[in-house]
Amino acid sequence: MSIIPEHSIEEIRSVTDIIDVVGEYVQLKKRSSNFVGLCPFHNEKTPSFNVNPRLGIFKCFGCGEGGDVFSFVSRMESLSFPDSVRVLAEKAGIVLPEDEAPGEDASESESIYHALRFSARFFHEQLAKDANAQIARDYLKKRGFSKESIKKFGIGYAPDEWDALLKEATSSHVAEEFLEKSGMIIPRKDESGFYDRYRHRLIFPIFSHVGKVVGFGGRILNEDDQPKYINSPETKVYSKSNILYGLYHSKNAIRGKEEAILVEGYTDVVSLHQAGVQHVVASSGTALTKDQIRALSRYAKTIILLYDADSAGLRAALRGIDLILAEGLIPYAVRLPDGEDPDSYVQKNGAATFESFLREHRQNFIQFVLENSRAAGSMDSPEGIASVQRTIIQSIGKIPDELTLEAYIRAAAKSLDIPDNQIRSVLKRENQNTRSYRSANSRDSVRGRGSAAHEEMESSENLPALLPTVPAEKKLLRLMLEIGPSMIEFVMSRMALSDFTAGPSRMMAEQLVNQYQSSTFVRSSFLSEKASLEVRQLATEVMTLTDEPSENWGKKQINVPKLDENPQEAASSAMKYLKKYRLEGQIDQLKRTIKADLESGKDATENQIRLTRLFDIRKQLGSGDFSNR
Ligand code: UTP
Ligand code: MN
Repeated sequence: MSIIPEHSIEEIRSVTDIIDVVGEYVQLKKRSSNFVGLCPFHNEKTPSFNVNPRLGIFKCFGCGEGGDVFSFVSRMESLSFPDSVRVLAEKAGIVLPEDEAPGEDASESESIYHALRFSARFFHEQLAKDANAQIARDYLKKRGFSKESIKKFGIGYAPDEWDALLKEATSSHVAEEFLEKSGMIIPRKDESGFYDRYRHRLIFPIFSHVGKVVGFGGRILNEDDQPKYINSPETKVYSKSNILYGLYHSKNAIRGKEEAILVEGYTDVVSLHQAGVQHVVASSGTALTKDQIRALSRYAKTIILLYDADSAGLRAALRGIDLILAEGLIPYAVRLPDGEDPDSYVQKNGAATFESFLREHRQNFIQFVLENSRAAGSMDSPEGIASVQRTIIQSIGKIPDELTLEAYIRAAAKSLDIPDNQIRSVLKRENQNTRSYRSANSRDSVRGRGSAAHEEMESSENLPALLPTVPAEKKLLRLMLEIGPSMIEFVMSRMALSDFTAGPSRMMAEQLVNQYQSSTFVRSSFLSEKASLEVRQLATEVMTLTDEPSENWGKKQINVPKLDENPQEAASSAMKYLKKYRLEGQIDQLKRTIKADLESGKDATENQIRLTRLFDIRKQLGSGDFSNR
């Protein structure tokens, strides 16, 4: 995957109205220069979600989420940054330069997508039009699939001919090359041309999570035909291990319910949707993969496996459970009554009964493994019991999250009737190397760019929390970010980097200085994915600061001119405040040291002299109450 050039990103940014984009998800009301609404990223009753159209950024003061229009789309749709750029490019009608080098490749993907889209439309139209499609229409009717479902999932019919699609596509200038590369046609053995892969089948298009057709599943209509389903081969745009059938249609419901139901068949997904159970996806024939679980993990942390009572279904569920645990998600398993699949069950009983069945019968994986092992007679001997216990403990060992792990250790202790400490010691022995999660994770959360501030943070990894950023430095950062080089020069020639609080604040100041020095100041670089998460969050926060002095400022009786009136004055005043603030901190610290010295009988003279000096500086800076913020 190549990098999307900066100028394309800026072009898209400049023609995209962030209010329009956000407005598709959030009801926004105008309030002075900002728009506000209920934050889509956390639950709230009063709006603290702000969008600033002039700056092109959003910020939630409730949960701290913030960024530009690309980060918004990427958060909302769980897309990577480049994918969110692509989505917005498409909306804006901007053609991105070739995606992949060398040139041809990206347009090849586009051509394949085009062939797939064309095929999907063709099959869907045939279902309504083709006289021979009567069998398919009758079949769908018999199965109870509504017109709406057929339309929503783009269900179609592949005519009972060798070249119906081929002819139609080529006459519409879809090249054979791309029909073949998309898996729609197959070369004849005698190399005299191609024939359609799908003939006389019911067609289920498979969509990527952004709604592009990437392949098809074609079900038999005639029981004598085999196999039951013909699926698209892997292609440049279809990697089966990544795709979950139904994810595009279900992702919002999954996000809403905070859980996903995993079923086996295309028809199960369609049928459940039709009944109103919309948080459902299918692994579509292949065994569940790690990548599929990762794809799901962006929307929900709980996955409910619905499986068949037969041994294959059971094995698949067991394998799924370990994979799900290893990805840090929580698996549950539910076995439907004998002889039922999700489709038949929901059609018979309706969505409410289906959902309450799932609630009542969901087993956590410990219960699930225990019950099935008992039923299989694996627990009839002491060795058998030990082996099942070990299996369960090994599964528990895969849970990366500390709290979840603890909860499961306690649950297992109960179910297995083993003291939880014994489980812990078995775990220790079994998984000596897999417990590095916590340290790896905390390092992740302070990821910086090798700056001094970054190193300082790395070494202070054990500190409980980062120091809070002071309002005055936020003002300074905003002024520098908004006005650019002249202001960076003005501020940084009067301030030391160390006057900024260690962490995001200092990192951001440092990057501003770096960009100033190398004449590469780009405001949006602080809001883009290239900036570390902390810097980006801080940047969006300072950019959406209201222009009114905050409560704190009011209390301290510091007169801060409005930012836009006289920026240099505003900066001077903020710098003065920040310096005083630091000074107060030093004074407090020194006072404490002196007190401790005196209490332990040490000589405090030297520190007392220092303190007097600090008091002098304070006088020079002007009086004022600057006890801590
Ligand atoms: P099922 O046999 O349960 O099919 O296979 P189904 O989708 O529920 O269809 P109906 O209800 O019998 O009409 C489950 C899934 O396994 C894959 C398909 O993704 C199917 O949806 N499968 C099955 C194949 O890929 N190839 C096959 O030959 C059979
Ligand atoms: Mn079925």
